[in-house]
Amino acid sequence: MSDPYFQSLFADRIGGINYGKGTEIYKFEKIKRAKRKALADFPSRPLIDFGIGENDAMAPESVRRRMAEEINKPENRGYMDNGNARFKEAAAAFMQRTFGVKLDPVTQVNHSIGSKPALAMLPACFINPGDITLMTVPGYPVAGTHTRYYGGSVFRLPLTAENNFLPNFDELTPDIWQRTKLLVLNYPNSPTGKTATREFYERVITLAKKHEFVVVQDAAHALLSYDQPPFSFLAVPGAMEVGVEVYSLSKGYDMIGWRIGWVCGHERIVRAFADVKDNSDSGQFGAIQNAAAAALDDDEIPRRTRAKYMRRLEKLVATLSRAGFAAKMPGGTYFLYVPAPKGLADGTKFENAEAASQYLITQQSIVTVPWDDAGPFLRFSVTYEAESEAAEDALMSAAADRLAQCGLLF
Ligand SMILES: Cc1ncc(COP(=O)(O)O)c(C=O)c1O
Repeated sequence: MSDPYFQSLFADRIGGINYGKGTEIYKFEKIKRAKRKALADFPSRPLIDFGIGENDAMAPESVRRRMAEEINKPENRGYMDNGNARFKEAAAAFMQRTFGVKLDPVTQVNHSIGSKPALAMLPACFINPGDITLMTVPGYPVAGTHTRYYGGSVFRLPLTAENNFLPNFDELTPDIWQRTKLLVLNYPNSPTGKTATREFYERVITLAKKHEFVVVQDAAHALLSYDQPPFSFLAVPGAMEVGVEVYSLSKGYDMIGWRIGWVCGHERIVRAFADVKDNSDSGQFGAIQNAAAAALDDDEIPRRTRAKYMRRLEKLVATLSRAGFAAKMPGGTYFLYVPAPKGLADGTKFENAEAASQYLITQQSIVTVPWDDAGPFLRFSVTYEAESEAAEDALMSAAADRLAQCGLLF
């Protein structure tokens, strides 16, 4: 097929004249292809899918019922711009109740259509060409991608087991500090499962003031915290002077598809975000904002979600440990991040986590997501579908049988 006349018009940020011609296959596409192969080669063996990165349950019935009412209210029909007061007030009340963080709902909270677009828009508030965003890796890359779109660059802070999955700021040179405008954190961390301590956040606040950068703490998994009660960056003295936190109802409230979250923290940053957002979208549907506000009023919802994923993670830790993995209960999230096996008893060697993951999918029909950004690790998610605890146990037992026969070496 010949190129369209506009082939030379694509912006460099998405590949320029070569846009659409790459042959590189991305990680999630490789996983999809491997799953198709496993199903073709072993049609009678069901896939055990630990690769899914989204909640398995629908939003709670109470929230869906509320949505059904809200959808018929005429006042919800129009543009919502930067959001309605009801949602902002519910978010502020949630922050006060859950973390003891006091926010002015008018000036320090703004909704977003999920946390992903908020992370995409925040670099627009700060990044000029040449500026740096510090990003932890492995991690959720959206703020980094948009930093590059604005001509900035990303400095990667590896999260390694040796550093307890916290960034090592000591490796940064004066030049990097000088160009740094943003530090993007994410705790509880996806995919490592690490939670952050008050001491860590205190250090971050000290550094932010010293080197004059803004902190964006991605709290998408905030309510899925197991080794400590859910904890907010903004609860640490000084945090409100240096940054914002980005929240989501996706994970803790089983509302992934509803697309609702918020940015909160320093008033001037929230305002800058709202200005950029106002030039990008016209707000989430009012009915969704009101149903989400009702969800935020009900602390039982995230408590149930947390208990379910904690139970499933405990079962998975036991199953993987028996198969030889160095599996430990994560501090938070619904992910278990474990060192990948190095090979098999038959002499097969895995050169990286991706090779181990491909083997497990194609030969054992067990799906995981490989991470090779900071050492070879596999991410097992406990968001698989199982309608009862007995079904969870059956799935664990099938996984244990398959793993036992592989002869994994670590
Ligand atoms: C770390 C992290 N941040 C943000 C998001 C985006 O979540 P949402 O846009 O559904 O709020 C995700 C989703 O997977 C995530 O894992």
